[in-house]
Parts: sequence; structure tokens; C-alpha cells
Amino acid sequence: MFAAGLFVMYLAASAPALLASGKLDYETRCASCHGEDLRGGVNAPSLRGAGAAYVDFELQTGRMPAAVPWIEVGHRGPQLTQATIARIEAYVTSVAPGGTPIPEIETGGNLHRGRELYDQNCESCHGNDGDGASIGGSLWAPTLHDASVTQVAEAIRVGPEEMPRFSDRQLNQRDINDVASYVVSLDVEAATPRIPFSSSGPVPEGLLGWLAVGTLVAGASLFSRARRPM
Ligand code: HEC
Ligand code: HEC
Repeated sequence: MFAAGLFVMYLAASAPALLASGKLDYETRCASCHGEDLRGGVNAPSLRGAGAAYVDFELQTGRMPAAVPWIEVGHRGPQLTQATIARIEAYVTSVAPGGTPIPEIETGGNLHRGRELYDQNCESCHGNDGDGASIGGSLWAPTLHDASVTQVAEAIRVGPEEMPRFSDRQLNQRDINDVASYVVSLDVEAATPRIPFSSSGPVPEGLLGWLAVGTLVAGASLFSRARRPM
């Protein structure tokens, strides 16, 4: 508690310094495309009103900072340190407030409800098991196995690129908890190897081998009994 208190005091005292270094980070990493004034231009859209959730989603998944304008980059993990990300978020939202704040998520939601909501709202694009799927043309909805619960909630609220944005009326906080919990539960399933009952993998083949040996041994012993003189 004491340490947390000290940390809050530190943050309050250093807020102007945080914003000043956030401005510098923004200018070196983002301004060439999004503009000094955040209004965008030919190289990138405006970040005014993008909101903390959108900035966080782009930076935590590593989609941003892009190296080349308009070349799509998928999930590759954060390219900046967490401290830099926090400074850029603080700076962007202080210059251009508004947009969606970073959602708070409770994991351990109802997986059964989550599955239903997923089927209704996400499956058509991301596929049955969240492995990703084609959504027509050359467009692709990515796998969901790399996304954290917070990133799932951020995507739902901001609707990146071709993904629709879901309002609180469409999916409320409880719905998001359930869907996000369900989506991350799919990662565990995807990581668990399936038992090869129906395939002709090593287990059935080995079994057949032993059955064959067993039959031969049994047959040989019957044969030798039959040959034994009475
Ligand atoms: C090389 C150019 C470039 C740089 C550098 C860059 N961006 Fe972007 N950014 C883009 C383009 C182009 C888009 C449009 C979507 C796309 O191509 O993925 C975009 C989209 C975004 C979006 C989504 C906004 C929307 O409405 O679509 C956010 C948020 C964002 N960038 C934040 C940042 C931040 C923060 C930085 C610096 C850390 C940064 N970007 C650096 C080019 C750039
Ligand atoms: C119309 C198709 C569509 C629907 C419906 C849709 N998505 Fe998406 N989703 C996309 C596309 C396309 C992207 C990639 C956006 C980008 O690269 O900026 C995406 C990105 C994401 C990501 C980021 C994945 C990562 O690791 O980077 C998450 C998480 C996500 N969607 C979750 C969901 C959830 C949960 C739902 C349902 C509530 C949903 N999506 C509904 C098309 C869709």
C-alpha cells in the first residue's frame, strides 16, 4: 500500500514530465505519418478522437508504429517498451481527448454464454475455433489465439479496419467479459494436441503390430500342441 501510494505521488508529480517525454516519443515514432497535430494526412488517418483503446490496441499488437504507410501489419507483439507505450497514450489522449478508454475486463466469465455470443457476432469472420478466416476479396480476419483479453475487448469496442465496432447496446460489459473469456479459452484448446483415435497414427499402428504378434504366438502354440504326440 505504501509503495502504491508513493507511486501515485510520483505519477502526480511527474505528469508534466511524462507528457513532455510522451510528446517527444510521439514526434519521433508517429508524427511523420499521423502529423505533428495528430490530424493525419496522405500517410495516415487522424488520431484525434481515436481514443486510448484504439492507440493501445495498435501499439500492444504491434500493428503500429508502421514502417511504411498503408502496408497492413498483423499481430507481431509490441514493438515499443511498455513505458514508451504508456507515455504515447498519455500524450495522444491529452492533446486529443475522447474516444474509447481502455476497457477493464474480468476474466472467468461465463464460457457457455461467451460461446453463444461468439457464434452470433464473431464466428462468421474469425472462424469456428478463432483460427481466422477469409472474409472475401483478399481480406482476412486474423487468428484470435495471439490476442490478450484486453486486446479482445479493445477490438470489440474500436472495430479496427474491416471489423465492425460493437456499441454497449450490442455487447455490454458482461457480454464482453463472457466473449473475451471464451476467446482466450480457445487458445488452451488450440495448444492441446488431439488424441489420434480416428487417425492411423502411432498408437493404432502399434496396437495392430502387437495384435499380429499375439496371433502368431497363439497360432504357433496351438500348432505345436496339435503336433505333440498323444
Ligand atoms: C509509416 C507511417 C505510420 C507511422 C510511423 C505510424 N502510423 Fe499509425 N497508421 C498508419 C496508417 C497508414 C494507418 C491506417 C491503418 C493501417 O494501415 O493499418 C494507421 C492507423 C493507426 C491507428 C488506427 C486509427 C484509425 O482510425 O484507423 C492508430 C491508433 C495509430 N495508427 C497509432 C499510431 C501511433 C501511436 C504511432 C506511433 C507510435 C503510429 N501510429 C505510427 C501509418 C503510420
Ligand atoms: C466482419 C468481420 C469481423 C467480425 C464480425 C469480427 N471481426 Fe474481429 N477482426 C476482423 C478483422 C478484419 C480484423 C483485423 C483488423 C486489423 O488488422 O486492423 C479483426 C481483428 C480482431 C482482433 C485482433 C487480433 C489480434 O491478435 O491482433 C480481435 C481480438 C478480434 N478481431 C476479435 C473479435 C471478436 C471478439 C469479435 C466478435 C465480438 C469480432 N472480432 C468480430 C474482422 C471481424
